[in-house]
Amino acid sequence: MTTTVSATDPHAGAPAGEPLLLADDLVAGYLPGVDILRGCSLALHPGELVGIIGPNGAGKSTLLKALFGLVHVRSGSVTLAGEAITNRRADALVRRGVGFVPQNNNVFPTLTIEENLQMGVFQAPRRFTERFERIVEIFPTLGERRKQRAGSLSGGERQMVAMGRALMMDPQVLLLDEPSAGLSPVRQDETFLRTRKINRAGVSIVIVEQNARRCLQICDRAYVLDQGTNAYSGRGRGLMDDPKVVELYLGTLAADVDRAGAEGAGA
Ligand SMILES: Nc1ncnc2c1ncn2[C@@H]1O[C@H](COP(=O)(O)OP(=O)(O)OP(=O)(O)O)[C@@H](O)[C@H]1O
Ligand SMILES: [Mg+2]
Repeated sequence: MTTTVSATDPHAGAPAGEPLLLADDLVAGYLPGVDILRGCSLALHPGELVGIIGPNGAGKSTLLKALFGLVHVRSGSVTLAGEAITNRRADALVRRGVGFVPQNNNVFPTLTIEENLQMGVFQAPRRFTERFERIVEIFPTLGERRKQRAGSLSGGERQMVAMGRALMMDPQVLLLDEPSAGLSPVRQDETFLRTRKINRAGVSIVIVEQNARRCLQICDRAYVLDQGTNAYSGRGRGLMDDPKVVELYLGTLAADVDRAGAEGAGA
């Protein structure tokens, strides 16, 4: 039995069997001679919800972009269901069932909600009506406001459009970059619940999250990245209970507030 949290084994606590998506020892960056990912690994097993947390600038978005062919991988490999897809173009990956929701600029602002979702299904336009209905069940707002331009929506609503668009291709893997960013706590919770629901419906998900505690609560496993490398990995709950992870990445203030709240409640 493997340990559930590890600073050295990037796949601590992972299920047995072949991963659906595997990033092995990735080195990648934007500018010549500057590596942002410096030997980063991640595995996503079928049906899993896997989180990526870590400080600002750790390389979380860069890792997702490297998986999706948007940042050049200099060494290491990316594998999808056993097939090498390193540096494969994003449109080819979409056809292979990988969806990506970027952190920023993730809608076409001059197009309506409905048109944005049509863009998501451009590779299979006849599927539009059936898929749109399914997505509106998850995000009713998108149906109610289908004729509204995406540029006039709030940040959270745009995130819904972006997620809906990625779902239009009926992906087997979804890569989500901070879907809860900029949302109120209630809206954040809704986003987490929806993500969980999409995962339970059979989509394997990698989610980058700013809200580390919430992320660890909903994820099966998570990776803590720091300065372009794996710092800790393991089961979500295991990471939350690991004193080193709490001290370095989850902040002691939040833990103190939690404790004070619990003591207050018990008094
Ligand atoms: N397009 C780019 N060109 C050059 N450098 C970039 C580019 N995008 C990101 N970087 C650099 O790569 C590093 C990692 O950025 P990245 O966006 O992956 O971090 P992150 O972990 O997602 O941070 P955050 O939590 O703030 O979203 C940063 O130092 C950043 O300045
Ligand atoms: Mg980021």
